[in-house]
Amino acid sequence: FMADVEKIKSFVKAIPDFPKEGIIFRDIFPIFRDPSAVEALLTHIAHHVQSTTNEKIDVVLGLDARGFLFGPLLALRLHSSFAPIRKKGKLPGSTISASYTKEYGVDEFELQADAIQKGQNVIIVDDLIATGGSAYAAKELVEKAGGRVIEFVFVIELIDLKGRDKLGGNVYSVVQY
Ligand code: HPA
Repeated sequence: FMADVEKIKSFVKAIPDFPKEGIIFRDIFPIFRDPSAVEALLTHIAHHVQSTTNEKIDVVLGLDARGFLFGPLLALRLHSSFAPIRKKGKLPGSTISASYTKEYGVDEFELQADAIQKGQNVIIVDDLIATGGSAYAAKELVEKAGGRVIEFVFVIELIDLKGRDKLGGNVYSVVQY
């Protein structure tokens, strides 16, 4: 289990001064250059989920945009459905929405109204948790739809930003900085 984490960590690249000076950007794309790293990551997360809940996971929700890379893979492993949470105006048909605060100003997330049925168990997935604002909006969407957030799963957690405190409850990250 630990060997998996070390392996995955070795594929996360630190890019200094991106997108601006003073920021160290944690880049997950190198993981996808090696199928064995993707395999290790998915096996690790699926094992974590299956060993910490007895609940059947009905829906995996991926957050725009890098949550779309991991979400469908995890959903396939868990035999769950997948649905995207997107920035306002991208999803067709009937949607529900929730707003969140970003570094500069407010943005809005949307979910297709029929993506979650009342009472379904949901996991929310993204590549990285910083302040937790977007993940919190995702939780609001799940609750508006009548679903239950079983867990939040992130590949990377930026510990100092304390995003997990905002989410309360079950937050899992594979690699922490
Ligand atoms: N990497 C990717 N996304 C981010 C980061 C980062 O380091 N910080 C805030 N969002």
